Amino acid sequence: MFNLKTLVRPNILALKPYSSARDEFKGSEGVFLDANENPFGTLNRYPDSYHKELKTVLSTNNNIPVENIFTGNGSDEIIDLLYRVFCNPGKDKTLTFTPTFGMYQVAADINDVELIKLPLHDDFQINTEALKPYLSAENVKLIFICSPNNPTGNCFQEEDVAFILNNFNGIVVIDEAYIDFSSTDSFAKYLENYPNLIVMQTLSKAWSLAAARIGIAFASQDIIQLLNNVKMPYNVSKLNQKAAVEALKDTKTFEANKKVILEQKTKLKSALKGLDIVKKIYPSDANFWLIEVEDANGLYEELVAQKVITRNRNSLVKNSIRITVGTPAENEILIKALLAISKS
Ligand SMILES: Cc1ncc(COP(=O)(O)O)c(C=O)c1O
Repeated sequence: MFNLKTLVRPNILALKPYSSARDEFKGSEGVFLDANENPFGTLNRYPDSYHKELKTVLSTNNNIPVENIFTGNGSDEIIDLLYRVFCNPGKDKTLTFTPTFGMYQVAADINDVELIKLPLHDDFQINTEALKPYLSAENVKLIFICSPNNPTGNCFQEEDVAFILNNFNGIVVIDEAYIDFSSTDSFAKYLENYPNLIVMQTLSKAWSLAAARIGIAFASQDIIQLLNNVKMPYNVSKLNQKAAVEALKDTKTFEANKKVILEQKTKLKSALKGLDIVKKIYPSDANFWLIEVEDANGLYEELVAQKVITRNRNSLVKNSIRITVGTPAENEILIKALLAISKS
């Protein structure tokens, strides 16, 4: 039986969160002499610490109640908060499937928590057999599932994720940073049935707002409350909340840009297929392709010399390079550079 309280660090359960001036007085009318702000200027007031307007738009767009939404300073902040809420340093463990996004490891190291890394199968799907012994381990608190996965690009099979949700009593975190580029449904549809599920998304990718640093977590009200208790009081600036609200309301631009990116992705694949230096293009549900080449280190350097910057993922997947889909002009520059290297 899932019991959230048994998973939370005791000091976090006992925490009396910081109470700001605006937590104590919630009205919007009046002379505000309560927060030691400067009375002059346009950015002189502290921002809304619970990002209510932003969450209202997210709630409408995703059909998820405001109470089930947390917004943070990028998904990176949320990953770190999850370690701080659930993992006792030096004692608890987390688990993920590799190769995957590097921040799960960095946040584990910062928080002095061991991250168990289970290698994915050759087709980059989850090895559920290898996972079984860890499912009931008492001190494994979180499982990070990145789907679509970075750097491989693929989504994980729904039945494997459902198997984990059904058999793990800790917290299952599904990182859907690239979900908007995928034709696969978000796992958010499972939230009502699984109190141990957290679905993370971000405005950094399909919503074109990497600079604004907006990460999102959808989860039970109890988990959202814990994240709110632990976060810094003003973790998302007023400027960034405003940028996010504007972007989220402009679904026309979002859809138009996404369409171009997905068309370009298909075009890029055809062009890559025609190059003899490209040995393999891995399936992708994201806005990038992972390709296998003869010599990733060499190719990466040759591209840099032509001022085309890709991501050398050789250390994670032998001789692989990850290529983000750019604008039509950027993709053309990439293909020209690859053609020149191919012929040399
Ligand atoms: C899988 C995954 N999750 C999270 C992030 C970070 O997102 P954010 O910019 O919201 O911190 C990235 C960034 O590359 C990512 O690839």
